[in-house]
Amino acid sequence: MRQLLPFQVDQLDPATTYAGSSRRGRNGRPWVMANMVASVDGRAAVDGRTAALSGSADRAVFHLLRSLADIVLVGAGTVRAEGYGPVRAAPYPPVAVVTRSLDLDWSGPLFTEATQRTEVITCSTTDPARRQAAAEVAEVIVAGEGQVDLSRALAGFQARGRRVVLCEGGPHLLGELVAADLVDELCFTLSPLLAGGPEPGLLVASPILPPHRLALASVVEDDGALLLRYLRPSPST
Ligand SMILES: NC(=O)c1ccc[n+]([C@@H]2O[C@H](COP(=O)([O-])OP(=O)(O)OC[C@H]3O[C@@H](n4cnc5c(N)ncnc54)[C@H](OP(=O)(O)O)[C@@H]3O)[C@@H](O)[C@H]2O)c1
Repeated sequence: MRQLLPFQVDQLDPATTYAGSSRRGRNGRPWVMANMVASVDGRAAVDGRTAALSGSADRAVFHLLRSLADIVLVGAGTVRAEGYGPVRAAPYPPVAVVTRSLDLDWSGPLFTEATQRTEVITCSTTDPARRQAAAEVAEVIVAGEGQVDLSRALAGFQARGRRVVLCEGGPHLLGELVAADLVDELCFTLSPLLAGGPEPGLLVASPILPPHRLALASVVEDDGALLLRYLRPSPST
């Protein structure tokens, strides 16, 4: 792994690039970082999963970012598609799943093998029986009525001492966070692959997203993959 920007480092220890930043939230919410991978043509999954997009450097940064987070936030679509389990490495941040349907496998490892109880972030108009089933294996948090109010969910994290939130997608959840201007840092791996497919690829899926400018903070290269780190631009840029 070598860093190209902001200055060149051969034989990079990625902790230097990623762990060195100070991450402080604002407006009563935690710092929100997102970590995503895509092909050069913008595809966020191949055959419905991310495995084909990811390489060893991306996987190393994936685990490193988890070690820097107080909680991992993920959409239910990703949990279902990727068969998500709990974080299995220290410091074992819990996973929080955003869902309206509460259509999740409560007998899966995400709920039965988590070192820190998995959180289910849902809304008040969901089926009470399903909420009850979820509460048997997870911490159920209601934030919003017809759908999860992500600002409210983040304020709840802050109130429970979660200062750094790592969103691992998918594109719909990330699209909502970006559209609500709630993302402070985007770690994005550009995989050296054209994945094709019947529809245009979408890393960020949002019907209401105005163009968002990002500030490039670092570029790391490994085996043809580019690991890019973007920050919310400061007001002067
Ligand atoms: N390239 C990458 O880095 C990356 C990362 C993650 C995932 N992926 C891929 O992306 C695909 C899945 O992504 P996706 O965009 O379809 O799904 P997603 O964003 O993971 O999840 C969408 C689901 O999250 C819940 N949700 C999101 N916002 C909500 C809100 N405000 N209120 C209530 N519930 C809300 C809903 O769950 P319910 O349906 O349960 O109500 C919704 O259907 C998979 O193929 C996965 O492999 C790629």
